[in-house]
Amino acid sequence: MSRKILVTTALPYANGSIHLGHILEGVQADIWVRYQKSLGNECLFFCADDTHGTPIMLAAKKNQTTPEEYIKKVHIEHEKDLRAFEINYDKYYTTNSNENKELAEEIYNKLKSKGHISAREIEQTFCEHDNMFLPDRFIKGTCPKCNSKDQYGDNCEVCGSTYSPTDLKESYCAICGNTPILKFSKHLFFKLQDFEKPLRNWLSTPNRMHEGSKKKLLEWFDSGLQEWDISRDGPYFGFQIPGEENKYFYVWLDAPIGYMAASRKYFESNPSEFDSYWRNNDSEIVHFIGKDILYFHGLFWPAMLMGSEFQTPAKINVHGFMTVAGEKMSKSRGTFVNASTFVKYNNVEHFRFYMAARLSAGLDDVDISFEDFISRVNSDFIGNLVNIVSRVATSILDKLDRRLGKISPEGQNILEKLLESQEDIKKNYEDRNFHKVIREVTSLGDIVNKYVNDKAPWSLIKTDPEAARYVITDALNAAKILFTYIAPVVPTSSQTVAEFLGIKDGLNFLNLKSFIENVNLSNYKPISQRPDEKGIKSMIEETKIEFEKTQENSPTSVSKKVEEKSELKSVSEDGTISIDDLIKVELRVGLITEANHIEGADKLIQVTVDLGEIGKKNVFAGIKAAYKPEDLLNLKVVVVANLKPRKMKFGMSEAMLLASGSGETLSLFIPHREANSGDLLK
Ligand code: 2FM
Ligand code: ZN
Repeated sequence: MSRKILVTTALPYANGSIHLGHILEGVQADIWVRYQKSLGNECLFFCADDTHGTPIMLAAKKNQTTPEEYIKKVHIEHEKDLRAFEINYDKYYTTNSNENKELAEEIYNKLKSKGHISAREIEQTFCEHDNMFLPDRFIKGTCPKCNSKDQYGDNCEVCGSTYSPTDLKESYCAICGNTPILKFSKHLFFKLQDFEKPLRNWLSTPNRMHEGSKKKLLEWFDSGLQEWDISRDGPYFGFQIPGEENKYFYVWLDAPIGYMAASRKYFESNPSEFDSYWRNNDSEIVHFIGKDILYFHGLFWPAMLMGSEFQTPAKINVHGFMTVAGEKMSKSRGTFVNASTFVKYNNVEHFRFYMAARLSAGLDDVDISFEDFISRVNSDFIGNLVNIVSRVATSILDKLDRRLGKISPEGQNILEKLLESQEDIKKNYEDRNFHKVIREVTSLGDIVNKYVNDKAPWSLIKTDPEAARYVITDALNAAKILFTYIAPVVPTSSQTVAEFLGIKDGLNFLNLKSFIENVNLSNYKPISQRPDEKGIKSMIEETKIEFEKTQENSPTSVSKKVEEKSELKSVSEDGTISIDDLIKVELRVGLITEANHIEGADKLIQVTVDLGEIGKKNVFAGIKAAYKPEDLLNLKVVVVANLKPRKMKFGMSEAMLLASGSGETLSLFIPHREANSGDLLK
């Protein structure tokens, strides 16, 4: 019996571009959806822009436009970028729609009538100038622990401590710079704790999610489920809460409802189909998300659905973050790549193939490297699978009047071997172990290529054309099976193969076993070209340039550059900086109280610097060629004290020592001998 499955990916915020991290999730889900469709299941795929909230409201204002106009423009870009990667949503909608408003109201009213909403006054930071309550990210001030200036309202990027915005010293509004006040206002809460039992039950169903995700959710149960603040005061870009004045649904309330709204729009002319998914547990709701939003999808969302009598998700597929060469994607290194920049210089099916080769069902981060990307696509896709077709599809076939014959007995054996892998491959698709699919298909490709090599049809054609016809018929039938296997990953390439072989319905698991014999083939149209380094280089270059441009326009350019580049000398790369920029860099006198060799480090020494009132900081300094740890003890040095802590191979480095020169001639900056540790250098 065929299944009915509704699949979603997390809704991208409408105030940033689609980047390769979004694409990772989209491609992962899209491969799964295409696989389900290829089996003949009814599988629908939805997403939307996540359009509400303060950041989007302010971004629109900054762009001198209305939020509605702003999100409209972003929507066009987002959808274009996602579809360019062949992510084939049945509907890509927006959360700012009538459907979403109606559903959000319906769910809220239901929860309220059943007593799952409470109300109370809470005190929050308010800017009298902007006449609005400030979200944590819009309050800045001095860290209560380490006194670093210009820290956000929820945590300090210098010392890493977390606190509430009311703890900040000298706090100011990040929008206008004025000092905010504290003000009471009524808020509405969703009583998550009412759902503890049904949620535990839901979670205990086998295969609901990966064990690692389940474990994480259970930790939250252990620390006690808290009620959730679902309201925000105006001005706010979102939906007004029925029965309240100047109160809006918090963006995270209506965002997941956006999944439903997209499907309601899709079923516009057939509303009962909507219910067949959302109110009927014969069908399955499957969400693909990143591990950072598990809390919302594993607790609030199923509880909201339970409380409003909709069907809960059958499955939550959680993936890790994308990293590049083992590091977080970085704009300054050019590895935080926008989807549109990638598409400009590279082939998207190559990326899908490479992504599939890197993807499994676990929570681990997905590490990619652009060199590995090129070499894998070259060897496993172009040099292996595409090669099976391209090597026999042109001149040899011309000499045979482009006509296939019958499959040989030897070819029959190979095709049977290929078909034996079918169940394994299906299971790995279903379980999202796509890397195993790619491994299996490439090793089958090796068998076929070896067969063609051994038979050498390019020689046979001269002596025994009919024998060559057998080999080519065998090889192309093998290619048909292999390109069916990877059709969910590289749909366009598979379609090219299907057209070449004259298979009108395209390649799918339903026609996997039908062979092509005694037919004429059309001319060969190349399936895919080799990727090259030039494309990758241009892409990285453009990403870096885009980043530099945004930095030049930003008032905080120096501190951001220091943070991103981790080498102070990069600050002056583009010429001059203003005095405002300069004073953001906090240079202080530090006393080295500890210095140690690090096992396995060629260049680094670990030092502890005492910054007086600010406290001690751990630094990994690349000075080993010039200093021995014992020479450093009790030395006073110049330290960049407000550098964002960086995770290095051996631990966190929390500041930076200034030096000139390099290698053995490197020399640390030493302050005047009367300077005290902690002194600010001006
Ligand atoms: O984290 C994010 O990018 C959110 N915009 C995801 C929302 S997913 C869903 F719940 F709508
Ligand atoms: Zn303000």
